[in-house]
Amino acid sequence: MSVHVAVVGATGAVGEVMRQVLIDHKFSLASIKFLASPRSAGKSIEFKGKKYTIEPICPEAFAGVQIVLSSTPASVSRETSPMAAKAGAIVIDNSSAWRMDPEVPLVVPEVNPGALKSIPRGIVANPNCSTIQMVVALKPLHDLARIKRVVVSTYQASSGKGAKALFELDSQVAALGRGEKVPVVTMHAAQLAGNVLPHDWKPGEDGYSEEEIKMIKETQKIMGDDSIQVSPTTARVPVRIGHSESINLEFHKPITAEQAREALRKASGVVVVDDYGKGEVPLALQCEGRDETFVGRIRRDPTIANGLNIWVVADNLRKGAASNAVQIAEVLVQRGWLPKR
Ligand SMILES: NC(=O)c1ccc[n+]([C@@H]2O[C@H](COP(=O)([O-])OP(=O)(O)OC[C@H]3O[C@@H](n4cnc5c(N)ncnc54)[C@H](OP(=O)(O)O)[C@@H]3O)[C@@H](O)[C@H]2O)c1
Repeated sequence: MSVHVAVVGATGAVGEVMRQVLIDHKFSLASIKFLASPRSAGKSIEFKGKKYTIEPICPEAFAGVQIVLSSTPASVSRETSPMAAKAGAIVIDNSSAWRMDPEVPLVVPEVNPGALKSIPRGIVANPNCSTIQMVVALKPLHDLARIKRVVVSTYQASSGKGAKALFELDSQVAALGRGEKVPVVTMHAAQLAGNVLPHDWKPGEDGYSEEEIKMIKETQKIMGDDSIQVSPTTARVPVRIGHSESINLEFHKPITAEQAREALRKASGVVVVDDYGKGEVPLALQCEGRDETFVGRIRRDPTIANGLNIWVVADNLRKGAASNAVQIAEVLVQRGWLPKR
């Protein structure tokens, strides 16, 4: 089945990768259009060798569209996603605007595709990038030995904060390389080049960053298990693309590193790269451009009865955003869960 698609936020870091993912996945398109802010409207964008004019976001733009792949700031999505849904489209939204709405499924196709059966608001939420790669790795282990507690520390790429943030990191690194003063910081909380930045610096509940709260709440919603305790620390590192995570897991039942490795090897969307002695360990640079979640350093935690440590890496712009959204669209099409137009 060919689908009428609109890519909203097409000029952003995720929107740009979205075009490539649609091509890589050979997603069957009846038509495609690209929307962004009034700043970009009228400019042209290339897709499969053809030029398209970027359109502004308005109700008429969604006429006849079946799937909207939306990657705008949450404040924009709160207004534009219901607009597209009202016009009859299913919106797959990358922002944080709808994730915790009980009437909006929050979906990672490897974990909870069944949640797509009911989309009462016409909106499906794509989870936070750090959460997506974590739950892809956690699900097969949860099925095996039931996770009690997760202690996670993230090492997140600059591009997770958007195209301008990535440009800022590149400018800072270039300036450092030339021995010049680093340009004024606007996108990150402080200079990122040569630094590690704990997230946000605007603590919310109990001093946790917004990103940390997302990892707690979204993990429980996607896994369908509020008893899973998540203790996160999130940080931005001077990496362009690819989030890395150090994850400590405590289980209800016994589980060995070999059992975990075996379950992860069989799991959909996971690649096990785990021969530490031979230098086989997931690395952000090697995961760039890939849709899978890479897991390595799988080892027993000897300090607790049923514990493991793992290292998880994925491309935040692909699996953390665009690829997960396109995979959701594929499930909707394959299972016939897309409203007919
Ligand atoms: N980057 C990641 O790794 C990642 C991962 C998961 C989720 N997300 C989420 O995905 C969304 C997009 O992220 P991004 O990294 O692609 O951000 P970005 O690079 O800043 O791109 C934002 C996009 O939204 C459009 N936009 C901004 N303000 C707008 C407005 N007032 N009206 C209409 N369109 C507007 C921009 O259009 P113009 O170019 O015309 O301004 C651009 O196309 C965010 O909600 C983010 O939290 C990002």
